[in-house]
Amino acid sequence: MSSQLRPPAPLTATAMGPLSGRVRVAGDKSISHRALMLGALAIGETTIDGLMESDDILATVSAMRAFGALVTRSAPGAWRVRGLGVGGFLEPEDVIDFGNAGTGVRLAMGLVGSQAIAATFSGDAMLRGRSFSRFLDPLRRMGVQAITRSNDRLPMTIKGPDVTLPLEYRMPVASAQVKSAVLLAGLNTPGVTTIIEPVATRDHTERMLTAFGAAIEIDRNEDGERIVRLEGRRDLRAQAIAIPGDPSLAAFPLVAALLVEGSDLTIESVLLNPMRSGLIETLVEMGGDIRISNRRALGGEEVGDIHVRGSRLKGVVVPPERAPAMIDEYPLLAIAAAFAEGTTMMDGLGELRMKASDRIAVVAAGLAANGITVEEGPESLAVTGGAPSIGGGRVTTRLDPRVAMSFLVLGLAGHAGVTIDDFGPVQTSFPEFQSLMSGLGAHFEKAEPPAA
Ligand code: S3P
Repeated sequence: MSSQLRPPAPLTATAMGPLSGRVRVAGDKSISHRALMLGALAIGETTIDGLMESDDILATVSAMRAFGALVTRSAPGAWRVRGLGVGGFLEPEDVIDFGNAGTGVRLAMGLVGSQAIAATFSGDAMLRGRSFSRFLDPLRRMGVQAITRSNDRLPMTIKGPDVTLPLEYRMPVASAQVKSAVLLAGLNTPGVTTIIEPVATRDHTERMLTAFGAAIEIDRNEDGERIVRLEGRRDLRAQAIAIPGDPSLAAFPLVAALLVEGSDLTIESVLLNPMRSGLIETLVEMGGDIRISNRRALGGEEVGDIHVRGSRLKGVVVPPERAPAMIDEYPLLAIAAAFAEGTTMMDGLGELRMKASDRIAVVAAGLAANGITVEEGPESLAVTGGAPSIGGGRVTTRLDPRVAMSFLVLGLAGHAGVTIDDFGPVQTSFPEFQSLMSGLGAHFEKAEPPAA
């Protein structure tokens, strides 16, 4: 149900005993979007095992169907996609509503942009409030037309030209979403589309394009910048894809177990791609007892089992260059920092203001409401741990699922419960959050909406 129609669902999390056992989380969200999209462009039938089934991913399922791909579910997490071939999308009959799925709509804009069809995209109130200029800039240079609301906001109609122009694009900001939109547009563009990444970002699009047989090459130039070259108008071949567990979901039970004394938890089969492992690296530096075993390859990626035990943490300075490898994890790291001895300094976070909410401001306000010392800078957060009483506050989450789940973890580990204003948006990313955490002993209770 869209956030406009659904009444808010406040929820309180209160302190829990040690977490123990073995759990698994759903398949990685970034890889799930890409598997559906490349499956829809490939020739033949792609099978996907371990697809995340959150609202965000189901929006991509509906979009691929609207473009004409046959997408079916045979069992939980097991899906089939009969593709249309590169350039074979049909013009959708209706508006495509991506709900809260920012990654889905941006990647789909790249897919449509290089096909001579028009498609109109919309989303929920949060997504309609955000500017898409940084995505449209490179696409427009390739010849894509976009008719948008002011400031490049949704709803918008994207119309591809008869032939898109290949682009050499130096990324002005580190964004895997921008990179991927351009590469997906490059698939149906004659010639070579080139991306220059001064700062590397998650590489799932490149890995999956390689697996589907695209003509793609990855290099470094003499300045150490990452160069991706893709030759367009080549067929993609259907694949059997197994999707590893999402590290950005595993992070929630992981941090809860670190913070609650006596915990001993294993999270199985989690993606260990280095561009996604910044949180684990940082938590280990903070003194977290985290061990990885059973490392193996799955679906062109490395996975492993993460074993975590309750630990005493100390504050650290997080290197700004690590930001792309943990961009979605800062809200949760800020929670961990609230329990660490000393101050944790997080800098180079400008991109966090562009996420589902302004995460620097929303996290700073939530921490302050729970008795934690926090300093907010234009691109930084400094969190000082060890307050005598952590928790007891009410948090405004601005419909941001990762902020909501992070503050519930604060409530589970704190001295007093934490109430978030709305649990509803969690459905978009981690529908199993409450049952998984409850299975480990977490206690949640519906709370009253604030008095009007
Ligand atoms: C994503 C990339 C990241 C991340 C988002 C998913 C992706 O965004 O925040 O949740 O799947 O490519 P940016 O690359 O724009 O920072």
